[in-house]
Amino acid sequence: MTVKLNIGVLVSGNGSNLQSIIDSLEAGRIDARISCVISNNATAYALERAKRHNISAFHIDQRAFPSREAFDNEVVVLLRQHSVQLVALAGFNRIVTPVLLDPFPESVVNIHPALLPAFPGRHAQRQALQHGVKITGCTVHFVDRGTDSGPIIIQAAVPAYDTDTEETLAARILVEEHIIYPQAIQLFAEGRLSLRGRTVIIEPPPASGLLEADS
Ligand code: GRF
Repeated sequence: MTVKLNIGVLVSGNGSNLQSIIDSLEAGRIDARISCVISNNATAYALERAKRHNISAFHIDQRAFPSREAFDNEVVVLLRQHSVQLVALAGFNRIVTPVLLDPFPESVVNIHPALLPAFPGRHAQRQALQHGVKITGCTVHFVDRGTDSGPIIIQAAVPAYDTDTEETLAARILVEEHIIYPQAIQLFAEGRLSLRGRTVIIEPPPASGLLEADS
């Protein structure tokens, strides 16, 4: 039996990206398992989604910790207890510190609702509309010590219309998020992501074992 990659997912809100990962796992499109879901928000609907799928789900109350680092240390304790190898931020509304990043080198990923490096940080869809761009999108990237500044794994483009509100644009972007986040996680699970400088190289899929016949 092959040992599956253990994923820990950090969430704060609705958890539609968590759901897309769960659905992809259950459909066999990702060869891994979610070993725990952790939220800093007790009422995050994402926790309900996890429980419905019998995934261990935890709330860590950030108010109980004196610093970001102390909170992150508690997160790391839980991730280690669940043998997590890949940490996926999915609508996690906190900046993570080196306390969380260092134990998981090149193994923390995030989804951001803009075509980075445009519009990092909060309210990316609002920023895009205020700037008047015609195309925006979403980005899955490795997390580094900056804000939404890590190496880019996959991006998808989405049109922005002058009739858009923040909500209509966010909804159109989410459709693509739900496609590219599971894809990026499967590439990681297959060991097909490597870094050259800050460029993520996506290795070709392993050979199928079929050899071409000599002509
Ligand atoms: C998504 O737009 C994601 O890109 C951003 O936060 C939102 C989370 O949505 N980081 P959900 O909780 O996954 O539905």
